[in-house]
Amino acid sequence: MHSYNAELALAVRAAREAGRLIREKINRHRVTETKSCLSDLVTEVDRLAEEVTLHMIRDRFPEHTVVGEEEQAGRAWETGKNLTWFVDPLDGTTNFVFGLPFCAVSIALAHRGRPVLGVIHDPFREETFTAVRGGGAHLNGAPVSVDRAICTLDRSLLVTGYPGNAAMRPRMHRVDYKEVIDRCSNLRALGSAALELAYVACGRLTGFWEVALRPWDVAAGMVLVEEAGGTVSDLAGQPLEMTEYVDIAASNGLIHREFLACLAWEDEK
Ligand code: IPD
Ligand code: CA
Ligand code: CA
Ligand code: CA
Repeated sequence: MHSYNAELALAVRAAREAGRLIREKINRHRVTETKSCLSDLVTEVDRLAEEVTLHMIRDRFPEHTVVGEEEQAGRAWETGKNLTWFVDPLDGTTNFVFGLPFCAVSIALAHRGRPVLGVIHDPFREETFTAVRGGGAHLNGAPVSVDRAICTLDRSLLVTGYPGNAAMRPRMHRVDYKEVIDRCSNLRALGSAALELAYVACGRLTGFWEVALRPWDVAAGMVLVEEAGGTVSDLAGQPLEMTEYVDIAASNGLIHREFLACLAWEDEK
């Protein structure tokens, strides 16, 4: 099995570098623009953090494909390439714009489409979550795992998110939120899919779902959750593919079946 030591070291350095920018600039950035609609935000800091990260990766691994959220914009990328990086330079832009210090840098490496390495860095808590396929999940270097003490939905703390792109919201409404709230211990929406996945991996949350995410939102978190002993799938329980849009369910594994049954996903609703 490949250890990806050099790639991991670089990803951690890049995530912390971008994280420094985010921490410095929250409450100080000036320019906020919109992308697909009024609620789909981007700032100069998203772009700057992405520039820094992509530059560091390309400089060290010129032969790899690199996909960054802002640079990619609407463009497609070649799937199934040997090694592809997925970079979300600032996950939680809406939180950032409102001065809510809950956002992260998310960096993943995929081998032939399958994420094999993930780094999620929270610059406000100085928490760096890392995982390499086959090597376990870590928080600031210490091993972490999902919460295995919870095996039913009624004891689970669930989390979800709402797409910034308003065109995707009808898809989100296919899940009956009232049903979910009635059946779980409680439900959160914290505003950073990457950190929400990292929190499932370290046992602070029991399960996460969201529709219409992008590979850079979930690729790192997927490796983390799986390496922490949890389960990741699409909403129908099938293996998650890094397609253009991704519907994801991630949990401690023990509640997964009951969680999916509660979401009652039907693709053609
Ligand atoms: C967003 C965050 C948020 C999720 C949105 C994503 P961004 O990413 O992950 O939690 O609900 O769907 O688009 O745009 O802040 O990088
Ligand atoms: Ca965005
Ligand atoms: Ca994101
Ligand atoms: Ca982003």
